[in-house]
Amino acid sequence: MLKVGLLGTGNISEMFVQATKNVEGIEATAVFNRDQLKANIFADQHRIKKAYNDINVMLNDEEINCIYIGLPNSMHFDYAIKALKAGKTTIIEKPFVSTLVEFDQIKEASEESRAMVFEMTRVMELPNYKTIKDSLELILPVRLVTVNFSQYSRRYNDLLAGKMPNVFSDEFSGGALMDLGVYGVHLMVGLFGKPRGLLYVANHLSNSVDLSGNLIMKYKGFIASLVQSKNSKCDNRITIQGERGTMYITPTASILSKVELDMDERTDISAKQEHESMVYTLEKIVGVVSRNEVTIQQQMLAHSRDVMEVMEKARRSAGISFVADNKKKL
Ligand SMILES: NC(=O)c1ccc[n+]([C@@H]2O[C@H](COP(=O)([O-])OP(=O)(O)OC[C@H]3O[C@@H](n4cnc5c(N)ncnc54)[C@H](OP(=O)(O)O)[C@@H]3O)[C@@H](O)[C@H]2O)c1
Repeated sequence: MLKVGLLGTGNISEMFVQATKNVEGIEATAVFNRDQLKANIFADQHRIKKAYNDINVMLNDEEINCIYIGLPNSMHFDYAIKALKAGKTTIIEKPFVSTLVEFDQIKEASEESRAMVFEMTRVMELPNYKTIKDSLELILPVRLVTVNFSQYSRRYNDLLAGKMPNVFSDEFSGGALMDLGVYGVHLMVGLFGKPRGLLYVANHLSNSVDLSGNLIMKYKGFIASLVQSKNSKCDNRITIQGERGTMYITPTASILSKVELDMDERTDISAKQEHESMVYTLEKIVGVVSRNEVTIQQQMLAHSRDVMEVMEKARRSAGISFVADNKKKL
């Protein structure tokens, strides 16, 4: 049984707790917030038995064998290193970390302590991801992919009001690519591997962080365009155009609820997805940990590293820099 200590009491931690209720072999056992009162309230609301405001005390709790990190992006690294050093299985929210340098240190810490580490990739374990992957051969060769994942963020209103929400901050490794684009990058890397070349053109804040942007990825025989925005919205959609047909996927990224195949006639080929997307990732993680499937865990991690590499190259090409870029290696 994975007995999870959750770091963070935001929306995403709530979703995590809900997801654990649909998965055998995992339960939310404790929660951490820097403010004890917030931790207590969250624990009461979700019937979690322990609440902490000291991470070291939580990590010393032997009942907890797994840590879930639902904190702002730039905080993933330090907490993951602590959790892995304490020998806990560690599940990190997307995007995994801020930089490749951080990624490699996490991998090292995981190997040293033999505690497995996972990214909450969501999209990769969805039944409809498999549908897309299996149906691709019908439309080959692929000639063009477009992904649009735009969500007008309520935190953009805070930004307009003169505040600096974490999601737009260079200190917290924010921005549209890290927040939304990462889902499309997971999808592209999963379906087609790493691109041969890329260019990210972004609308920047004065701290260099992107409010929106277009990531163009070049593959053999086709290009992909991944558009993300945090200050405008649209009907999110993925279109995969091949010479023999087209796939339409709505809505995009973390959900993939509907997949249509158009080969002269349009057919709904969606798989049944009964649960919220996190459930599928947690089912996979619980299976891998309980059966000690080291090779599968390493494959999942290798995928996350490829995604991180694309993200970092994309950031560099657009001139987006984070405080984490200047951090010294531990
Ligand atoms: N929100 C979503 O829908 C969503 C969806 C998918 C993935 N994610 C991922 O989940 C992670 C968290 O995102 P979020 O938007 O939920 O973040 P958030 O609301 O800004 O914060 C989440 C938690 O982190 C704590 N926190 C924030 N700043 C902190 C600091 N400086 N020191 C200690 N704790 C701090 C918050 O505590 P306080 O309450 O005390 O501020 C809160 O409990 C990100 O990596 C994001 O990419 C989020």
